Amino acid sequence: MTQGPVLIAQISDLHIKPPGRLAYGRVDTAVALERCVTALNEFRPRPDLVVISGDLADTPTVEEYEHLKRLLARLELPFVSIPGNHDSREMMRAVFPQGYAFPSGPLNQKVEVRGVDLVLLDSSVHGKPFGKLDAPTLQWLEITLAASPNRPALLFLHHPPFKAGIWHMDRQNLINAAELAPVVRRHPRVQLIATGHVHRAALTMFAGVPTTICPAPNHAVDLDLAQLRQPSFKVEPPAFHLHSWFPEEGFGSVVTHQVPIGNFDGPHPFFGPDGKLL
Ligand SMILES: [Fe+2]
Repeated sequence: MTQGPVLIAQISDLHIKPPGRLAYGRVDTAVALERCVTALNEFRPRPDLVVISGDLADTPTVEEYEHLKRLLARLELPFVSIPGNHDSREMMRAVFPQGYAFPSGPLNQKVEVRGVDLVLLDSSVHGKPFGKLDAPTLQWLEITLAASPNRPALLFLHHPPFKAGIWHMDRQNLINAAELAPVVRRHPRVQLIATGHVHRAALTMFAGVPTTICPAPNHAVDLDLAQLRQPSFKVEPPAFHLHSWFPEEGFGSVVTHQVPIGNFDGPHPFFGPDGKLL
């Protein structure tokens, strides 16, 4: 029997190109994903599941998804994925035939992990950078959340339902967040809304629920909070999110950790053999 908290690793915005091609002529997103996969494989205790929250490919093309599939073959953990604005539903459905709720259209799905429901929502809109949850998806969310009112639920979608303050991203977030909010408020079992798209960590409250943006394994969107520059990116320290759920009273407790990707000095003990601080 597995001990410890439920651990859901979230990685986001992989932007895989065809082999040998760099994103924006500068970022090797494949090498970045390889480092991320190594970090996920080495993490202990092992996460129960990895959620990839959109923008798996960059253009997208079948060649990019085939490249992604080869890169993810090294991942020793089970994973599920949802589309972002750079993805194709049809290509993703073909390359990752997961247990989707609908036989066609949006790639929504529910995954149960040791008593916790993960509800994955497809916010992509064909050919558009912004996100929107269509009517069948919102209806499915309502029904899915109502089906098991006593289990905690974590929602995942690509587009943040809030403005992060970065002007060129704020105009391409979830444009119908006002339709998501009442659904979330009707179901107190929603403990977390986890998103991506902005390539940098952020946290706020939305509809009374902690709502996060996951950093990327590659480049970050420049933290320009005053429209000082053209849309830009910076290669900042890469990271992933680790959502840990602890079974406590009621719906339990969720803590999101940001885990840097790379080789770092340590861990070193605080205390020597005599029990005294070193
Ligand atoms: Fe995106």
